[in-house]
Amino acid sequence: SKIHKYKTRLPIPAAMPAISTSGKADRYAVEVRQFRQQILPPGMPQTAVWGYGSAAHPKTFGYPARTIEATADRPVEVTWINGLVDAKGRARPHLLPVDPTLHWANPAGGVGHQDMPADFSGTPARYTGPVPIVTHVHGAHAAEEADGYPTAWYLPDAPLPRGFAATGSDFAAMREKAESYGPRWKPGQAVFRYDNDQSPGTLWYHDHALGITRLNVYAGPVGFYLIRGGEQDLPAGTLPGPAPGPDDPDNTRYYEIPLVIQDRSFRTDGSLYYPDSRSQFHDAFAGPYVPASDIAPIWNPAYLADTIVVNGRTWPQLAVEPRRYRFRLLNGSNSRSLILKIAAGATAPRPASAEVPFWQIGSDGGWLREPVQLEQLLLGPGERADVIVDLTGRPEGTELFVINEAPDVPYAAGVLGTDYQPANLATTGQVMKLLVVPLRGQDTSVPPEHLTLPAAPKLPDSAAAWRVLLDDLPSATLTGVNHRVATLGTVAPDRTQTPLRWHDAPTEKPVLGRSETWEILNFTDHSHTVHLHQVQFEVVSRQPFGIPPKPRPAEAWESGRKDTVLTHSGEVTRVKAVFDRPGRFVWHCHMLEHEDNEMMRPILVA
Ligand code: C2O
Ligand code: CU
Repeated sequence: SKIHKYKTRLPIPAAMPAISTSGKADRYAVEVRQFRQQILPPGMPQTAVWGYGSAAHPKTFGYPARTIEATADRPVEVTWINGLVDAKGRARPHLLPVDPTLHWANPAGGVGHQDMPADFSGTPARYTGPVPIVTHVHGAHAAEEADGYPTAWYLPDAPLPRGFAATGSDFAAMREKAESYGPRWKPGQAVFRYDNDQSPGTLWYHDHALGITRLNVYAGPVGFYLIRGGEQDLPAGTLPGPAPGPDDPDNTRYYEIPLVIQDRSFRTDGSLYYPDSRSQFHDAFAGPYVPASDIAPIWNPAYLADTIVVNGRTWPQLAVEPRRYRFRLLNGSNSRSLILKIAAGATAPRPASAEVPFWQIGSDGGWLREPVQLEQLLLGPGERADVIVDLTGRPEGTELFVINEAPDVPYAAGVLGTDYQPANLATTGQVMKLLVVPLRGQDTSVPPEHLTLPAAPKLPDSAAAWRVLLDDLPSATLTGVNHRVATLGTVAPDRTQTPLRWHDAPTEKPVLGRSETWEILNFTDHSHTVHLHQVQFEVVSRQPFGIPPKPRPAEAWESGRKDTVLTHSGEVTRVKAVFDRPGRFVWHCHMLEHEDNEMMRPILVA
C-alpha cells in the first residue's frame, strides 16, 4: 500500500539522560530493546524495531536513539546492555533473516561458510537463537577494549540453548583490560570508556557484531554521539542552536538538528523487510548475482531499500523558520549513497540547480579548514556532514524539499554524467520536506561565509605505509567449491596475492604514534566507503590507476578530519593517519553487506 509523504512531523532526538555527571566521567547505562514505533505515517501499522535507550528511563527508548552529548576531554563511561529479551526475560530471535553461512558472531559455534562440507547444497537452517551485539562509537578515539571489537560480542543475560556461548571469542580479553581500571562487567553487558580526547565532531553509535552488523543496524539501534567544547570548539552562540537537552519538551525550537537518513523497506503489515534470499538481488551491472537455482544463502551483496526514513519516520516534514539552521547529517543506510539537494519541488522536472545552497562546516570528525558552499552533498554510507542551511527571508508557506539524486544501485562515481540514473523520483529520490513558518526569534548566529573554523592541525608528512585493496570475488576463488557466496576480499599489497579474509592474520600494523599513509585501491566496479577505527584521518588524494601521476587533491568538503572516505572504482585513495593507541582495531567497508562478508580486516597497532 502507498506510503503518503510529508504527513509526519520530523522527530528530533533529545539528549540521552546520564546516570551521573559528577565524578571523573559522565556515566550512562544504555540498553538495546525491541519495541514498536510509528515509523510509517499515522493510520498505517506500527513497526517492531530495536533501539537504544537509557536503561533507567523506559520512555527514552527510540529509533533513532537519543543523542549522547559528550564534552571534549571529559570521559564518558557507558554500560552497554543487550536487552533483546521478551517480557518473560527470554532471549528474542532476530527480526530479520540471519545468514548462517557467513563468518559471523555465531553463538551456536562454528564460524560459517569455511566450515561447510564441500558438497553442501541446500538451504541452510535459519538461525533463530539469541542475538549477539557489541556497540561501536563510530569516530571515537577509543581504547581497544572500548572499541566494540566484532568478536567481543555478547548475548542478553537470559537462559541460553544448550551449547551456546554467551560471549564472543575476544570478549574475555577485552573485559579483562577494561576491568583493570573500570567497574566489573555483569552478564549481558560491557562497560566502555571513551576519553573524548579529540576535536568536537559528529560521531554516531551502532552495533558491530561480526557478520550480522547489517541486520542489527537495519533493525534500528543507532544514535548520534556529539562531542563539543575544548580548545577546538567555536564560542557558544556562533552557530545556530540550541540542540535538545535530556529534559527538553518535544518542541520545534531547535536550530541545531541531527538528521539520520536511512533506507528501509516495509511489508504491508508494517514490519521491516530485508531480503531473505539471494534470488531477490539483481546487480545493476551484472544481472542476477547467482542463478536462483543455486544454493540459497541469504546474504545479498548490497541491499538498497525502497523507502527513505529520516530520524525514524518515513518522508517526514519539518517546520522551519526563515533563519539559519545547523543540520548534522548522517547517512546511516546499509549500502545506499546519497546526493542531497534542497529543491523547490520534489518530483520531475528536477531543477537544474539547487533552490537553497548550503554551507558545509564540518565532516565526520571535526571542522573543515573553511566553510564550503555547496549545491549538493554526496554522502556515502557511514559519512557525516555538518552543514548550515540559510533560510533567511523565505516567505511563510514556502515549501522546500530535500531530494536525493544518487542512484538506486551502489554509487559509482565514474557513471555520473553518462548513463547515470538518479534515484526513483517517486520514492528514494525524495527525503523530507521543509515548510517555512513565521520567525519566532532573532537569529544571532554568524553567517557561514564569515565563520573562521578551528580545524584540527595538519598531520605530519609521511611515507606510504599500507597499500590495501578492495575487490569482489566469487568465493570459489578462495576455497574451491564449498561456499558460493560472493566473498569480498581485502588484498595486500597487490592484486596478485591471495585475498585475505577477516580471520587471516593482521597485515596492517601501524607503528604507534607515526603518521602513515594508507593507499586504498578499489578494483571493483563501484565506490565503497572505507572506515578506519580509532583515528580521524586526513584525505590526501585520489588518482586513477595506470595514468601518469596526477593525483586529485581531497575534495573541499573533505578538508577536515574524517574517519570514513569514499573510494572510487579504478582509483587509489590516499589517507594519512596516526594511530596512537595500541591494540587490536579494525578497518572495513561501511557498506554493511560488504563489511559482514569479509570486507573487514584487523588492524594491529604496536
Ligand atoms: Cu560505523 Cu566499524 O563502523
Ligand atoms: Cu564495499
